[in-house]
Amino acid sequence: MGSSARRRVAVVGATGVAGQQFLTSLGNHPWFEVKRLAASERSAGKKFSDAIKNPNGSTRWFTSEPCPKEFLNITVENAEKLILDDIDIVFTAIESDAAKIVEPIYAARVPVISTASAFRYEADVPVFLPGVNIDHAGIIAKQQKARGWKGFVTPGPNCTTVGLVMTLKPLYDKFGINSVIMTSMQAVSGAGRSPGVLSYDILDNVVPYIPKEEEKVQTETQKILGKYDGNTITPAPFNVSCTCTRVNVIDGHTEAAFVSLKNKATTDDVKKVWKEAYAEFIQMGLPSAPPELISYTEDPFRPQPRLDRDMNNGMTTSIGRLREDGVLPNGIKYVLLSHNTKFGAAKGAVLTAEYLIKREVIH
Ligand SMILES: NC(=O)c1ccc[n+]([C@@H]2O[C@H](COP(=O)([O-])OP(=O)(O)OC[C@H]3O[C@@H](n4cnc5c(N)ncnc54)[C@H](OP(=O)(O)O)[C@@H]3O)[C@@H](O)[C@H]2O)c1
Repeated sequence: MGSSARRRVAVVGATGVAGQQFLTSLGNHPWFEVKRLAASERSAGKKFSDAIKNPNGSTRWFTSEPCPKEFLNITVENAEKLILDDIDIVFTAIESDAAKIVEPIYAARVPVISTASAFRYEADVPVFLPGVNIDHAGIIAKQQKARGWKGFVTPGPNCTTVGLVMTLKPLYDKFGINSVIMTSMQAVSGAGRSPGVLSYDILDNVVPYIPKEEEKVQTETQKILGKYDGNTITPAPFNVSCTCTRVNVIDGHTEAAFVSLKNKATTDDVKKVWKEAYAEFIQMGLPSAPPELISYTEDPFRPQPRLDRDMNNGMTTSIGRLREDGVLPNGIKYVLLSHNTKFGAAKGAVLTAEYLIKREVIH
């Protein structure tokens, strides 16, 4: 099948925050046609428009763009019984425990592009970021052989890892990295809606702990920037230390990063590297690709979630406040912002799928 034919896809977890972002990303998509929707058995058997309706008449549609009309009448299936006969690719947006059960069922037959963490840390599972690590695709054959699957599973990174790695990749390639220290200020939408963060806990507040998040960001950063030698992915050898916090922001994760570079670089050197990064990826002209994957601003008061998260439809990581750091060897420090439910989840996963098709990892 060439990249011009539309692949038939299913969206699992379609009723949730990330699932709904899948639907807005896939409405009228030139390469994908949504054939099936699935969620828990609570929603199964209902039309999508009914599955997102509360008994009091309110609708649980969480994104600012409307749901593409063609999806409203699709009957939601039980994720565990999803019919795959007419499906080429499955996008999943469900919690990890549920993903552990259903993703292998799908992967036995078709590629699964996931937003869940269930398989992220398995040695034979690549975690792709657009423009960053397509060279890890070779490990998919090993995954298929070991597990007896015709398809495969590839989860995207945690939404907090995403912006950090997009900014680190060009630095790592050009200057090398000794260590990274990062403090995040994460939006409430990153916690989803089941049950999510109570307004009573987050209004007028900062919550200084997000369970398991720091370990995820540390491990995933090393894995994504790791080296694939034709057999295994060896994690990048620098240490990553994080403090992850939840703040009173709806969408957009802000992160303050401190990076010790292997080779000294001025702030002008760093800005130049960021400016030139990802040109080859952008030139591929994929349908969901933004005009730039990262963007540096000289305004010392930016990036800000409210003003910058929707740059290029939430697909661009904004960077600002680059300074030399006098504490770390060859240190630099900066602030980044990336949209957690767009590039950081569904839209990023759709772009990854386009990337895998273009590079013939998905045939
Ligand atoms: N929110 C973000 O910013 C973000 C970013 C990156 C990655 N993620 C990841 O994306 C996944 C979904 O997160 P979310 O924020 O969209 O959560 P969410 O809003 O709570 O949505 C959860 C979805 O999973 C479905 N579900 C629940 N239990 C299920 C089961 N046993 N079997 C099948 N489906 C089930 C729900 O269906 P019902 O409506 O039927 O209950 C709903 O569609 C998680 O793994 C999360 O870590 C989220």
